[in-house]
Amino acid sequence: MNKILVTGGAGYIGSHTCIELLEAGYEVVVVDNLSNSNTEALTRVKSITGKDIAFYQVDIRDRDKMNAVFSEHAFSAVIHFAGLKAVGESVAQPLKYYDNNIYGTQVLLEIMQQHDLYHLVFSSSATVYGEPASVPITESFPLSAVNPYGRSKLFIEDMLRDVGASDPRWNAILLRYFNPAGAHCSGLIGEDPKDIPNNLMPYITQVAVKKLASLSVFGSDYATHDGTGVRDYIHVVDLAKGHLCALEKLQSKPGVVPYNLGTGIGYSVLDMVKAFEKASGCEIPYSLVDRRPGDAAICYADASLAKAELNWQAELGIEDMTRDSWRWQSGNPNGYEDT
Ligand code: NAD
Ligand code: UFG
Repeated sequence: MNKILVTGGAGYIGSHTCIELLEAGYEVVVVDNLSNSNTEALTRVKSITGKDIAFYQVDIRDRDKMNAVFSEHAFSAVIHFAGLKAVGESVAQPLKYYDNNIYGTQVLLEIMQQHDLYHLVFSSSATVYGEPASVPITESFPLSAVNPYGRSKLFIEDMLRDVGASDPRWNAILLRYFNPAGAHCSGLIGEDPKDIPNNLMPYITQVAVKKLASLSVFGSDYATHDGTGVRDYIHVVDLAKGHLCALEKLQSKPGVVPYNLGTGIGYSVLDMVKAFEKASGCEIPYSLVDRRPGDAAICYADASLAKAELNWQAELGIEDMTRDSWRWQSGNPNGYEDT
């Protein structure tokens, strides 16, 4: 296992994973169409690690170009981050999500098969649990989708289970991420949403740098300790390290298996606001507004399977996430745009 193809490697989780891969001695090749990212992220990954990355600005749906990349390099595995991830946009433009996420993955799998490569780590999501009946959520909970984005993740998981059943050479680890947050401790790379953020942490950090006026807290009447929604926020560097554990696991030819990547701890929206205020010294103005349709009250992982079988567990906590998010946002108020 030494040369890894990282699709979507210029993005938020992908760029952090590139650092961990390079620091562990892997060679890294990135394919990204830059639809939601900037090559500056990879330039900074190179400066942090002092190592090189081969980069191809290619869409994973482009068979000819993907084929050329696979002909040029002998990969031992693929880590597949490339995908669109905005839930609201997926409701408005479902076909865009089916084309990019589902068809894109189909092309990737076909090219892998043509080049005799059967080892994949896939970015799945806790969204595949739909509206969970209870918490903590284990991998054996029923799966369902509540929006087209979630349906694309669930369909890709099914696609991988189908190819695994059809041919035992396939090994795929489905990493079901809970809520990624934080940034690399260097402050040089982090989350850089192109539009107004949908997710809580980037919204909070943009309020802190006064790019946004105030946070709307979606719902204050949930059955939680302070009435606001509870989630399992996981530091992006912990998440990135989980991919290295998954690559190790692939060597044991496990077939197609899912793992939750979360901390197992739930924090409310107001817990996150308070922790961020403490870490940054900034006040975050907020108002309590109606619930956001489709949001669960409480969602957190049982991450014991990843601990037992991947030898992985989250090491960083809410102070690390809020401090590192602030270091990134305050040092780069406009993300990568200014470079
Ligand atoms: P991101 O948007 O920062 O990264 C995705 C990258 O994929 C971007 O660089 C984008 O340009 C690229 N991309 C998209 N479509 C492509 C295509 N057709 N061809 C080539 N490149 C393409 O998002 P992220 O937060 O780093 O998420 C990475 C993966 O993890 C995604 O698949 C996402 O669905 C999944 N995920 C993210 C979260 C989260 O909250 N961030 C939670 C669960 C799962
Ligand atoms: N929230 C607010 N105000 C905001 C944004 C979010 O109050 O401006 C609240 C939400 O209501 C929720 C919590 O903050 O209670 C977290 O919301 P996010 O949008 O950050 O995250 P979600 O849990 O809704 O969804 C995220 C990803 C999905 C993924 C899911 C599970 O966006 O893609 O985690 O992994 F499927």
